[in-house]
Amino acid sequence: MKICVVGLGYVGLPLAIQFARADVTVLGLDVDAAKVDLINEGHSYIRHIPQATIEEIAKDNRLSASTDFSRIKEVEAVIICVPTPLSKNREPDISFILGTGRAIAPYLNEGTLVVLESTTYPGTTDEDLRAVLESGSGMKAGVDFHLAFSPEREDPGNDQSKVKVVPKVVGGYSASCLERAKALYGQVVDTLVPVSSCRVAEATKLLENIFRGVNIALVNELKLVYGAMGIDIWEVIEAAKTKPFGFMPFYPGPGLGGHCIPIDPFYLTWKAREYGKHTRFIELAGEINTAMPEYVVHRVAHALNAINKAVKGSRILILGLAYKPNVDDERESPSYALMRLLSERGAEVEYHDPHVPVIKPTREHSQFAGKKSVAWDRTTIEKFDLVLIATNHACVNYEELADWARCIVDTRNAMAPVKVPPGKIWKA
Ligand SMILES: NC(=O)c1ccc[n+]([C@@H]2O[C@H](COP(=O)([O-])OP(=O)(O)OC[C@H]3O[C@@H](n4cnc5c(N)ncnc54)[C@H](O)[C@@H]3O)[C@@H](O)[C@H]2O)c1
Repeated sequence: MKICVVGLGYVGLPLAIQFARADVTVLGLDVDAAKVDLINEGHSYIRHIPQATIEEIAKDNRLSASTDFSRIKEVEAVIICVPTPLSKNREPDISFILGTGRAIAPYLNEGTLVVLESTTYPGTTDEDLRAVLESGSGMKAGVDFHLAFSPEREDPGNDQSKVKVVPKVVGGYSASCLERAKALYGQVVDTLVPVSSCRVAEATKLLENIFRGVNIALVNELKLVYGAMGIDIWEVIEAAKTKPFGFMPFYPGPGLGGHCIPIDPFYLTWKAREYGKHTRFIELAGEINTAMPEYVVHRVAHALNAINKAVKGSRILILGLAYKPNVDDERESPSYALMRLLSERGAEVEYHDPHVPVIKPTREHSQFAGKKSVAWDRTTIEKFDLVLIATNHACVNYEELADWARCIVDTRNAMAPVKVPPGKIWKA
């Protein structure tokens, strides 16, 4: 069998590898020619995907990449994993999905299966994507070609989470579309969870991400409330999670990051308006989570005050730029908000992140493009007035940090296992 994965990013590349390992021939299509070249040369560009993995499957020609969308005519199934960001006005931007639909439609064969994996609002697959596929191909979904939605459950940086063992939800546009999608994914995933429609599958993914967003907001709010009472939220969560039923731990932090949790819930908020419905939980969680960087900056000001310093003119090191531990993904990272807020208050801000050696140009944080991660040594770290732990990468030596730093603000409880003199650590 030969299939195509469109969008070779954090979701598409691991999926393409999984199919290639199951002896399916995979063509990866991407608009980014640099990624296409790297794959064809056998290189990895995602930190947690080892170089050897790409080399091994590229060598046997089980995975190749291209920017030529006319090659869709070579394949029996197309899986779309392109970005689904929010626009400047925080509305869903499904232009990448629709652009892909338009690019592949003229080359679809009769009987080809098209599956969307990008997270989006219910209705995207059977309304928006179906419309562009049908008009561009002159064929009918469910009759001439098959259409399905199956959300990705990728958890970057989690070594235990493998495409094969994580159950996969699948919804088809028709009963035969579902059967085709089940046959496709059955080759690489142990457990499939068929649902009655594309919309149910789309809604399932949103529920999963909203659940995380809302629960993170809850512990972020409790962090403030318990903090005011002199109670450490981290100790409370450790105790609560010993309950063997009805509780699941979520952890506070400096704000939300990544391509999913800060964005996806608002896809539903937007679509719900069409039905005259409001998503109050989502809005409130968004408000609380977005306010976290301001709270952290407030704690930084307190900590500096205690060593007779003002934020203005202080040298502050942000430790961790990626949005979560042990990955190189810094999209939507709250570290950017922290850097911006502290710089606006006159601090001199640098960062250290072993996984992000330099900040790439982005539309949202163009002022930081080209900034480099500072070295990790006593002389460099001692020069900062304060170190703000924004992400707790496992490769950082927190004993050294305790020894070298003058004052530490910890948003991740990273310093909990380290012995530190009283007054040096401020939780935030
Ligand atoms: N990253 C995650 O952990 C995660 C988890 C679950 C779901 N998702 C969802 O999966 C989707 C993809 O996310 P991602 O993190 O892989 O994004 P990504 O930015 O890492 O990858 C997207 C890829 O698509 C390519 N691309 C963009 N437009 C294209 C087009 N028109 N044609 C072909 N390729 C195109 C980009 O060059 C990039 O390589 C999103 O909807 C996201 O919400 C992501």
